[in-house]
Amino acid sequence: MKYKIAVIRGDGIGPEIIDQALLVLERIGKIYGHSFNFTEVLAGGCAYDVKGTPLPEETVEICKDSDAVLLGAVGGPKWDTLPGHLRPEKGLLQIRKELGLYANIRPAVLYNPLKDACPLKPEIIDDGFDICVVRELTGGIYFGERGRREGDLGEAAYDTELYSVGEVERITRKAFEIARKRNKLVTNIDKMNVLESSRLWREVVNRVADEYPDVTLNHMLVDNAAMQLIRDPKQFDVVVTTNMFGDILSDEASMLTGSIGMLPSASLAEGKFGLYEPIHGSAPDIAGQDKANPLATILSTAMMLRYSFDLEEEANAIETAVEKVLSAGYRTGDIHSKGAKLVGTREMGMLVVENL
Ligand code: IPM
Ligand code: MG
Repeated sequence: MKYKIAVIRGDGIGPEIIDQALLVLERIGKIYGHSFNFTEVLAGGCAYDVKGTPLPEETVEICKDSDAVLLGAVGGPKWDTLPGHLRPEKGLLQIRKELGLYANIRPAVLYNPLKDACPLKPEIIDDGFDICVVRELTGGIYFGERGRREGDLGEAAYDTELYSVGEVERITRKAFEIARKRNKLVTNIDKMNVLESSRLWREVVNRVADEYPDVTLNHMLVDNAAMQLIRDPKQFDVVVTTNMFGDILSDEASMLTGSIGMLPSASLAEGKFGLYEPIHGSAPDIAGQDKANPLATILSTAMMLRYSFDLEEEANAIETAVEKVLSAGYRTGDIHSKGAKLVGTREMGMLVVENL
């Protein structure tokens, strides 16, 4: 089969980790007889430098015309003083909105060879955990009305959390569909003891849950959830939550694995289209030094093969290759520990390609 992939290298370590991911995809194409056609497009700080905007029009058009998008990372201190609408992060938010990527899937899996990197006590992690955070990505306070006005004690600012029934329904369905293929447990996380938007959210989640009698649904308030993630991460399977709660809790969950450099993500639209990127950021402090861990980006290509192209076997091949390389003791600096073999970005990529 032929697949069109739009590639956004982005800023910081983005370009070098994408290079390794593309080598892996090319090798997969050779082994399994697929052709991946890559089109490079600009977004983030580098797009601002060249085009004066973090998300050029043609980037959106080429992405829309592709089967999937692969993204490295955007942002960096160089662009930190720009006004909000020109910041690299704005490009990311805009691309999510323009491509309709309403469902953000962020797995937090404890890799067995990396167990020592987990900050929790061994008796808490036991034989590991496997959490899948399903975060709503195109609504809520990220996109609600905002502004400034006079407040009681001087200038004031506000952002609005706003969710419609349809938005909650589709993200809830996505979470239940995913849970069906896993351990059939969904935990909904909200703040219904305070927020009206959470009360509507929970009503809708309960309604949608009736369509999935085979899946168990729990509810948890977000403050309690932040605590439970550390107290007993094994209790979670699929977590469904709002844009902002998902932003925060997915960072917490990824830290529990001790290896944020390992975690991929998928942002899915209606149908098969999706954007795939590592969970970590652009790490400008180590950019261009062959130090970055390319595994999260490589694992993001596995998610792409699985979710957008239905190539389960090929996706498994990438995940297995990554596990083999880790079991053989190879580590980039971020996941390195005593006795392991320290390798750079390029060597890590090469090892995965060789193990396919
Ligand atoms: C993320 C990031 C983004 C977000 C930022 C960079 C806008 O933190 O993808 O989690 O808040 O969504
Ligand atoms: Mg975040």
